[in-house]
Amino acid sequence: MDDLSSLVAQMTLEEKAALCTGASAWTTTAVERLGIPAMLLSDGPHGVRRVPDVHALAAPSLPATCFPTAAALAATWDPQLLYTMGEALAAEARALGVDVLLGPGVNIKRSPLGGRNFEYFSEDPYLAGVLASSLIQGIQSQGVGTSLKHYAVNNQEHERLRINAVVDERTLREIYLPAFERAVKEARPWTVMCAYNKVNGIYCSENARLLTQILKGEWGFDGVVVSDWGAVHDRVRALEAGLDLEMPGPKPHRTQAVVDAVRSGALDEAVLDEAVRRILAAVERAAATPKETETFDVDAHHALARRVAAAGMVLLKNDGILPLQKGQCLAVIGRAAREPHFQGGGSSHINPTRVDIPLDELARLAGEGDLTYREGYPADDSFQQELIDEAVAAAAEADVALIFAALPASKESEGYDRTDLDLTRQQVALIQAVSAVQPRTVVVLNSGSAIDMQAWIDGVAAVVQAWLMGQAGGGAIADVLYGVVNPSGRLAETFPMRLEDTPAFLHFPGENGEVRYGEGLYVGYRYYDARQIPVLFPFGHGLSYTTFEYSHARPSSPTFREVDGVDVLVEITNTGQRAGAEVVQVYVRPHQARLARPPKELKGFAKVELAPGETRTVTIHLDERAFAYFDPAYGRWVAEGGQYDLLIGASSADIRAQVTVTLEATRPLPSRLDMESTVQEWLADPIGRPLFEPMYQQMVAQLGAALGGEDTASIGMDMTAFILDMPLVSILGFQEAMLPAPAEEIVVDLLRRVQEANAGAG
Ligand code: BGC
Repeated sequence: MDDLSSLVAQMTLEEKAALCTGASAWTTTAVERLGIPAMLLSDGPHGVRRVPDVHALAAPSLPATCFPTAAALAATWDPQLLYTMGEALAAEARALGVDVLLGPGVNIKRSPLGGRNFEYFSEDPYLAGVLASSLIQGIQSQGVGTSLKHYAVNNQEHERLRINAVVDERTLREIYLPAFERAVKEARPWTVMCAYNKVNGIYCSENARLLTQILKGEWGFDGVVVSDWGAVHDRVRALEAGLDLEMPGPKPHRTQAVVDAVRSGALDEAVLDEAVRRILAAVERAAATPKETETFDVDAHHALARRVAAAGMVLLKNDGILPLQKGQCLAVIGRAAREPHFQGGGSSHINPTRVDIPLDELARLAGEGDLTYREGYPADDSFQQELIDEAVAAAAEADVALIFAALPASKESEGYDRTDLDLTRQQVALIQAVSAVQPRTVVVLNSGSAIDMQAWIDGVAAVVQAWLMGQAGGGAIADVLYGVVNPSGRLAETFPMRLEDTPAFLHFPGENGEVRYGEGLYVGYRYYDARQIPVLFPFGHGLSYTTFEYSHARPSSPTFREVDGVDVLVEITNTGQRAGAEVVQVYVRPHQARLARPPKELKGFAKVELAPGETRTVTIHLDERAFAYFDPAYGRWVAEGGQYDLLIGASSADIRAQVTVTLEATRPLPSRLDMESTVQEWLADPIGRPLFEPMYQQMVAQLGAALGGEDTASIGMDMTAFILDMPLVSILGFQEAMLPAPAEEIVVDLLRRVQEANAGAG
């Protein structure tokens, strides 16, 4: 018996049941008799929200660095930087006595309206998974745990505690689970937090398929499944489904319910023991890391937060006005220049150690140039024409007008979604009026997700998407505007033209307690590509103050086996005058597939720093999964043999090079032909086709003879197309008079031979 098992064996039933529910808002239950300490969990995800009173859920927290939110982190496309930030987060957690940080969140941005989109990475599961995995590894490398959340299919805030997300199996596997899957397999988070909502009718907290079969079984998750705060409904059912730790606590009635269930035989004690073991393993790991022994380096972390924020800023548009020149006179307009909007609402809200004021940071870099400030819009975002008039007057006299636009502070929050993509009426009018008198107008945007810019984008010279950028974002904005940092952020989410264009528009946020994921796989750029819908700024987009050239794109080999994968190589040259970083993106486009597939999908990327004139060869590996789709009929990932284009680009809409490779499938699928299979399916099936083809030729000939050319035309149909979609048994039934045996017998015999071949192949 290992140490943990012997510890479990020493615990009473009551102690075990109590361990599986929290002792307070933020702590697990200690068992003093056995020297088992409590473990402290705190939000997350982009800072440590350590509430001093562990019984208070929403009390003010201790000061900690507010790093940029996940939306900004994702736009860095820089896993290494996120690893570094993870190390800093962990240092703060240790200093503040926190064992597990409740994050990151990897839910997919299904709609830009999602209230917590700022807390999530991307509309793309591959990008979200790679970035989250690196952040987790950074945090956990310092002995602090993480909680990968919210598992799963929690893509809206509307009715989040009860909504039933109805999603088909393939979409679940290809869009909503892969970021969790990658992070679990690569980074092994200490805990995974289940979501509040239901998935296909079952609460995530009681969802044995999600928690036990997929997470713990298929992906080998060996940590603790923790509930989102208050997500448990039936404690015993949740335990049975694989939910180890319920938070928050205490909840004596829950503990009693577990005790009673074991005593009555309704719950197998082994299930409880397994949950206890997992929790004890985490508690043991947590106890091994010293806490509250050192403080953290506030200045260094603020500087890191500035570096990360700058790396995530996306230069959406620039007619050449940026970077600003020292000595230019600036009219700085907008309250957000004085009162920066740098984080969203809800459990992720951090009490920052300090806050950079954009206006002050600009003044530091402006040199001799005058800076005038105008408020532009009031704190309550009501319409006030005089504020616009004042701003216009200042803008007309300046060399450049710099407008800081921001969504109202409470618009992006946990607990509710946005209802539109709009800036406020006042801010739209402000941008229009200022840019009408000052063509050299730059807009800096603080929002955690896309906003509609159609009313003013054409009139302004440049736009910087600065996100909810964390406490040091003010300095980062100044760095980017003045070219101290060459922008290298790229959109991790599409900015659509209009809300009506978005993939989930007709299915969001649902009704009668249910939301149907009717757009299926077609989320984000997958949808805009497939429908050929123009967007404001595409996924992957972002400008630089330099230019890059792509050349000599080539695969490591033109053909490859799916088990080996393939490398794609491309040379990138910085053809401009400044050092800068390019994000090289690789999208895979299948030539054909058995199931419908999105036109292209991101499957690899690399961020490369280049001095002016420098060239580097970038190598990106694409593994089997990069080519695979999940086939629900087989219940597995399938990388089909055939040709694929590898599209290498600077965004999803700016493909600079393309190569074609051929995948050789080494693990053929067993045939799934049955009595209902159509003629088409028989012809497409590698095992069935050779068995059936001679009969098919005969069948077509006989049909042709029976009907004759004239008659075929007279009933107005293409006979071959007509029979392709009919079950073989049915079409044979029509021809039975000409057959040596009844149709059923013929098909049964064919199927027997298929089964023999299947067995031989297996
Ligand atoms: C949120 C989680 C958070 C937890 C604890 C919940 O309401 O959904 O993200 O970690 O509260 O604050």
